[in-house]
Amino acid sequence: MQNIASNKPWIVGITGASGTVYARRLLQVLLDERPELEFELIISEAALRVMREEEGISVSPHSVTKLQLEKIIGAQTDRVRMHNNRNIGASIASGSYITSGMVIVPCSMASLAAIANGFGQTLIHRAADVTMKEGRKLVLVPRETPLSVIHLENMLKLAKIGVSLVPAMPGFYHQPKKIEDIIDMMVMRILDQMGIELKIAKRWAVGEEVSKSKTTWPIRSI
Ligand SMILES: Cc1cc2nc3c(=O)[nH]c(=O)nc-3n(C[C@H](O)[C@H](O)[C@H](O)COP(=O)(O)O)c2cc1C
Repeated sequence: MQNIASNKPWIVGITGASGTVYARRLLQVLLDERPELEFELIISEAALRVMREEEGISVSPHSVTKLQLEKIIGAQTDRVRMHNNRNIGASIASGSYITSGMVIVPCSMASLAAIANGFGQTLIHRAADVTMKEGRKLVLVPRETPLSVIHLENMLKLAKIGVSLVPAMPGFYHQPKKIEDIIDMMVMRILDQMGIELKIAKRWAVGEEVSKSKTTWPIRSI
């Protein structure tokens, strides 16, 4: 699969699996530490529901305003273009709109199934389909446990065509002291797959210390 190494925008999809905090942290770190990058953001209705349940963030699915978006992400969002998941006529629904690729974090099993089987009925699913057909980088962060044969088959199908699967399965070899350390390790592994090297957590190297990201927690202001 071709990875267009450029400063074209990255598409970020947030779907309704547990762990929307990974997406918010990913965006916050990228906005703070990669000023040259722009983002096309789509948040599914289910993701907004999960944000409400898990993080107490309450946003109407039909009107995510700029202010609300800044509250969700906890950073300046001038370089983030927000799309409605129902707008299948958006720029990113077409392969002629060039992007660096797409990351879906977290990726629900429902979205995984839609993407693995070519259903492009929402903008997230269509944009993922376009990303694959154009041979651009697609990174999925699936989250479910336990996994059924259907989930595994869908993942295998996507892995076979070069989609990067980065399950939200945090490791503990960096000896996390707090939940933010676990999230940052996961986010760094996602960034690695996007080809964006940021050292926001401790990598496995004996005797090496982590150089902390300048992006500090907490990540939201509501
Ligand atoms: C609080 C909450 C947590 C959920 N966690 C998961 C999960 O971890 N993995 C998953 O595949 N679905 C999970 N779901 C179910 C999805 O949100 C549901 O299948 C939804 O239709 C996914 O839609 P989307 O892919 O368009 O976002 C969860 C739902 C809720 C309300």
